Amino acid sequence: MAVLLPGGAGFIGSHTAVELLNAGKEIIIIDNFSNSKPEVLESIKKITGKDFKFYEMDYLDEEKLENVFEENNIEAVLNFAGFKAVGESVKKPIEYYKNNISGALVLLETMKKHNVKKFIFSSSATVYGEPEKVPITEEFKTGGTTNPYGTTKLFIEQILKDIYASDNSWDICILRYFNPVGAHESGLIGEEPQGIPNNLMPYIVRVANGELKELSVFGNDYNTPDGTGVRDYIHVVDLAKGHVKALEKLDREQKGLYIYNLGTGKGYSVLDMVKAFEKATGKKVPYKIAPRREGDIATCYAEPKKAKEELGWQAEKTLEDMCKDSWNYISRKGENDDKL
Ligand code: WQD
Repeated sequence: MAVLLPGGAGFIGSHTAVELLNAGKEIIIIDNFSNSKPEVLESIKKITGKDFKFYEMDYLDEEKLENVFEENNIEAVLNFAGFKAVGESVKKPIEYYKNNISGALVLLETMKKHNVKKFIFSSSATVYGEPEKVPITEEFKTGGTTNPYGTTKLFIEQILKDIYASDNSWDICILRYFNPVGAHESGLIGEEPQGIPNNLMPYIVRVANGELKELSVFGNDYNTPDGTGVRDYIHVVDLAKGHVKALEKLDREQKGLYIYNLGTGKGYSVLDMVKAFEKATGKKVPYKIAPRREGDIATCYAEPKKAKEELGWQAEKTLEDMCKDSWNYISRKGENDDKL
């Protein structure tokens, strides 16, 4: 029995592939490399010493997907094949709705046809919109997303709730990620945004290695301890382990629709991140204060208690690990690229 990972060559998918293989699971990856590279597959094998089946294809391709389900004995699907750039989603809403929502529907329809009903969905803290208070629990109301990317997460959550309501033999887990950062400690897999990064950590890393001149800190007049935005940064390896625990829960418990926050429960400001990065790596991160970024909120961090109690999972890596591992991946990659 295998676990299918659409988008398994991407940032979160590849780290989850490693943790599933380490936990002794058989996996199958499908990916069209729209935001990842084939080398990632070799890196996953190198890290784990294990092999797996791979299909290069778009998960929207119903015929090919059908073949994957015909050829294999699939027990569960973890979907990592979503587009995820907030700014790009504002410019390309049709592409975002099509890839994320139609993709999920094709996947769910094919699963249903083959009577595969275990599904883990990569959602986001963005579904909470602007929370009334922090920490955020899973019971907080959702809605008020400010971009198509976030809205695709919200809509797919609703679709999953409707599917479960129509047929409670489905077994679904929605994981709401906070701010994933870091990389595998081997430095072999990590985050590689194309072009100028939008997210904080990839931007900091590129300032530190000289690719970008300085960080713009988007606003220092928020109602936070130092005026800059506060977020719940979580190491991607901790996040990946959360998926293994979620899958174990679906295997163990009664069928249901479960929702968990995957965060650390701690909030750090933009300036905390700059300082922590400089301390962990010894690299300088020049910055300037810039206007607020549209759509940003002041503070967002998780109440991770439910995941701890019900999944037996909690984030273990420190802010220092997140900074060190993010830097290690990019600086190692830089060295290897120079050799090419
Ligand atoms: C964090 C903080 C910025 C860049 C988004 C999505 C979310 C998830 C993760 C992804 C904020 C500040 C940032 C910079 C800055 N999606 N910042 N200068 O906005 O919390 O979450 O990414 O796949 O759904 O909404 O993350 O890393 O962009 O920003 O000052 O150059 O850093 O204002 O306070 P965000 P982020």
